[in-house]
Amino acid sequence: MSEKATLEIHGKKYEFPLIVGTENEVAIDISNLRSTTDSVITLDPGYKNTGSCESAITFLDGEKGILRYRGYSIEELAEKADFLEVAFLLIFGELPTKVQLDKFHTDIKAQSVVDEDIRKIVDAFPKSAHPMGVLASLTSALTAFNPSSVNVDSEEDMYKAICKILGKFPVLVAWTFRKKHGLPLDYGDKNLGYVENILKMMFKQPNEDYKINPIILNALDKLLILHADHEQNCSTSTVRIAGSSHVGLFASLSTGISALWGPLHGGANQAVLEMLEAINLDGGDTDKYMAKAKDREDPFRLMGFGHRVYKNFDPRAKIIKKAADEVLNDLGVADKILEIAKALEKEALKDPYFVERKLYPNVDFYSGIIYRAMGIPTDMFTVMFALGRLPGWIAQWREMRLNKEPIGRPRQIYIGETLRPFKTVDKR
Ligand code: SDX
Repeated sequence: MSEKATLEIHGKKYEFPLIVGTENEVAIDISNLRSTTDSVITLDPGYKNTGSCESAITFLDGEKGILRYRGYSIEELAEKADFLEVAFLLIFGELPTKVQLDKFHTDIKAQSVVDEDIRKIVDAFPKSAHPMGVLASLTSALTAFNPSSVNVDSEEDMYKAICKILGKFPVLVAWTFRKKHGLPLDYGDKNLGYVENILKMMFKQPNEDYKINPIILNALDKLLILHADHEQNCSTSTVRIAGSSHVGLFASLSTGISALWGPLHGGANQAVLEMLEAINLDGGDTDKYMAKAKDREDPFRLMGFGHRVYKNFDPRAKIIKKAADEVLNDLGVADKILEIAKALEKEALKDPYFVERKLYPNVDFYSGIIYRAMGIPTDMFTVMFALGRLPGWIAQWREMRLNKEPIGRPRQIYIGETLRPFKTVDKR
């Protein structure tokens, strides 16, 4: 017999079942709240206390700084797995055998050409366009060139759509980058690994061979793993709710890219670098920016700090901070910006304002430093986040569709005008 929660409203008691997850998280199942209480609903701006679904993909514990994909710790996956393996794990639930991984990669490579007409869409954008806006448009445009990927009710059709987007998305990312830099839009090499091919498509110069730097390859593979999923964050929830209307995978992903673009979410990695560069230009005056971050009258926030769920260190930030040190040392890059970041972190971790609010560095605080060392321009940082998050969005969309979840449609509490008669313009 499951435990129950009791709610008393206007003197009447109501009972609701408690749901307990495999990590002993507890939720009150209020799916019958409105019908049993004569239309009473809950209100929770930003859904800080509200679960939107039951999911078996990612578990995180914000108090303990734990993050696991399908039960495997992020620490082990970042150290021992590669990005395509993690993508398979997130989407299908198990680490792949060698045969499964090879077939998955083969099926993806078979879909890694993009319709030539998409180049015309890329060409129509000004070089000044933000890459996230370009990428969201191109991803949605894929639907027009792959209409069979819309009505995907069978697992087989879903698999085909998933291989298409995993094959084509890195091309769109590379084209988005190359367009801004006046480079020819070309393809990579089907003989390369998934992440190697991404690097070659992005950085190959038309007049020379491209040599993979193992340090950069390893760093990018790790960064993509660390960004791959994060339960019901803003952009993933957007993908799930858009997908719940059965609009198809590519259009659902396009909504997630737009949500991730925001500076409070994935756009923070770009905002962190811009903040650190501003501090550097300001003579490294971190005190001034700490004061701004603590001033409630000042809209400035310390970008890369704080998190809706982690009220302890973001485990990804720890791994990325270590990787930043290693990559910069290996590349022989002495980066003033990294020194400023470390000084800022040191000050913030002992400042009462940040300590009281449990504001710690998050995944975005150090990632931009590595991207910069790899030669990726600041306005492409959030695109790299989207590249990493792609398998997570796919996994969450697939879970929602396979669970046949209903269309997402939250309620509201109306606080506007009550009924009033129309006034003719001469009486207003
Ligand atoms: C990501 O959800 C996910 O999982 C996201 C993500 C993922 O992998 O998908 O982890 C990726 O989006 C990481 C977050 C990246 N964003 C930033 O780094 C932007 C800076 N951070 C803040 O905007 C903020 O911390 C949020 C948006 C991340 C979280 O905001 P919350 O949980 O809604 O917290 P809040 O806005 O209610 O703030 C609580 C208090 C407030 O002060 P008081 O009103 O109590 O006085 O903390 C303050 C805030 O002003 N605060 C900050 C701050 N973050 C919160 N003050 C200064 N600098 C900050 N960064």
